[in-house]
Amino acid sequence: MNARGRTRPVQIAPSVLAADFAALGRDIAAAERGGADLIHIDVMDGHFVPNITIGAPVVRAIRRVATRPLDVHLMIEKPDRFIEDFVSAGANMVSVHVEAVPHLHRTVAHIQKLGAKAGVVINPSTPASSLEDIASDLDFVLVMSVNPGFAGQSFILNSLEKLRRVRAVLDRAGSSAPIEIDGGIEPSNVADVVAAGADILVAGHAVFGGGDPELATRALRELANMRTSG
Ligand code: DX5
Ligand code: ZN
Repeated sequence: MNARGRTRPVQIAPSVLAADFAALGRDIAAAERGGADLIHIDVMDGHFVPNITIGAPVVRAIRRVATRPLDVHLMIEKPDRFIEDFVSAGANMVSVHVEAVPHLHRTVAHIQKLGAKAGVVINPSTPASSLEDIASDLDFVLVMSVNPGFAGQSFILNSLEKLRRVRAVLDRAGSSAPIEIDGGIEPSNVADVVAAGADILVAGHAVFGGGDPELATRALRELANMRTSG
């Protein structure tokens, strides 16, 4: 147990956005050999964010080859239209942006009713306080530490303070829901984000950008665990 009383291990969630899309099965298998706990899948529609990625058919294909739970991050407008598709394609965790959903409570309940874990995502400019009235209903929170849309961007430093604030909001609501951090995670900031309250580390470029996803995943896990057991 560390200073903030952590008892659960930090999880690593490689983001396939930075993988080789022509060899997803190979790259996912390598990340899993390196100890990936989850596979993070970024779904973008070219409206909510300025990029287009993948849809439910690709999630279904990943489901066939991945052995770890699939963590599907929806960066799309009106996500309610597609939640059922993604869960039936194999998503085990589904997160929606607070900025994209008018009836968050209904959307979260819908995800959970379909049998998946429900998460809510906040962009860098969205305050932690926006989670106050939904905190006790959430299975996890995702804090964006870059402006969503692309892999390989730099970590926004005040995300550390955001993590602390989100943890405080969850604690006040009596929730032990884990916090996921997404964007610009690399070996040099793992200790800081874990100390600030991150429980799940998404990593795209840091895992898939260097040619050895197995080694890179293992390195992130070791750094996170040093912090966890410290
Ligand atoms: C960004 C995505 C991230 C991205 C992370 O919009 O949500 O999941 O793939 O990639 P890195 O770790 O390279 O910032
Ligand atoms: Zn993501």
